[in-house]
Amino acid sequence: MGVSRELSLAEVFQLGYYWETKILLTAVKLDVFSALDGKAKPADDIAARIGADPSALTLLLNALVALRLLHREGDRYANSATAAAHLVRHSSQYIGHLLLLHDAEWDNWGKLEQTIRTGRRSVDRHVFETDPELGANVLAVLHRIGKQSGPDFAQRLQLSGPLRMLDLGGGAGTNSIAFCQTYPELTATIFDLPATLRLTEKTVKEAGLESRIALHPGDFNTDGLSGPYDLVLMSDILHYQTFETNEALVRKVFDHLVPGGRLVIKDRFLDETGTGPAWTTAFAVHILVNTQQGGCYKTGDAMEWMRRAGFASITELERTAVVQGVK
Ligand SMILES: C[S@@+](CC[C@H](N)C(=O)[O-])C[C@H]1O[C@@H](n2cnc3c(N)ncnc32)[C@H](O)[C@@H]1O
Repeated sequence: MGVSRELSLAEVFQLGYYWETKILLTAVKLDVFSALDGKAKPADDIAARIGADPSALTLLLNALVALRLLHREGDRYANSATAAAHLVRHSSQYIGHLLLLHDAEWDNWGKLEQTIRTGRRSVDRHVFETDPELGANVLAVLHRIGKQSGPDFAQRLQLSGPLRMLDLGGGAGTNSIAFCQTYPELTATIFDLPATLRLTEKTVKEAGLESRIALHPGDFNTDGLSGPYDLVLMSDILHYQTFETNEALVRKVFDHLVPGGRLVIKDRFLDETGTGPAWTTAFAVHILVNTQQGGCYKTGDAMEWMRRAGFASITELERTAVVQGVK
């Protein structure tokens, strides 16, 4: 990591400047880009289509031109190529759901001062619980993005043989699909909430892996996990839960592994100092303001859960990202 350079005053100003962020998020919320799909239009037409005040909308549209998300030709506005590909709802590469999630969390960020002063969380439930449809849509976007990195991760684990894998909180199945594609003898069980598995059913089918990937509906904290398994993967599920719940879950997983079986935890861990990696330090604040009880944990925490559960040969396979324990 090394010593980082001092921040300039210009950079401090830039950091404090969130206007453009909210302009983008609001444009996605108003679905401005879909209203412009395939055709340049004047502000009045767009306003009528999305239900907005024409002169107020004109200011937003002009700012989007300056942000290079729209072009203007005369009095008509048109999508840039990037906006057309990623911000028009029916595009196969639409990522707007992720931005809608940030927008849904906007009011929670407004309570950051209060949360820091009191140490008390201001939300009862994560957006994924209050708006499961948005949650499923976000998972679908993450799946599309994750398809690129999934196979690399699978390869780096260097597995072999006819392994039975449990993908706990496997979501849209990004990892299970990549693992099955990388290792021809591997079979996987994706364990997730019933509402999520409706999406998973589609992605598994699209990948043509119905015969090798089973879906197991349930709550991993309270329900049985079946098994036994040779490999359990916990990828990006622990930061929504408390330290104690995670400790109990790791112990439960231990009981469902064969001797010699391994648990792999992949997450966004903080390093020992808590000041890095940079993205994760901000993610920790995000978890603080947007979840009732989640936390961003250190690699050492995950290793401690494994130790207490009885795992041996506990190693950090990838710094602040992947921890493994063998039963
Ligand atoms: C951030 S996603 C991670 C998805 C996937 N593991 C990945 O890495 O792409 C978290 C997943 O955990 C699931 N989940 C959260 N709480 C759960 C619970 N108590 N029981 C089962 N699944 C749960 C969610 O439905 C969601 O699919």
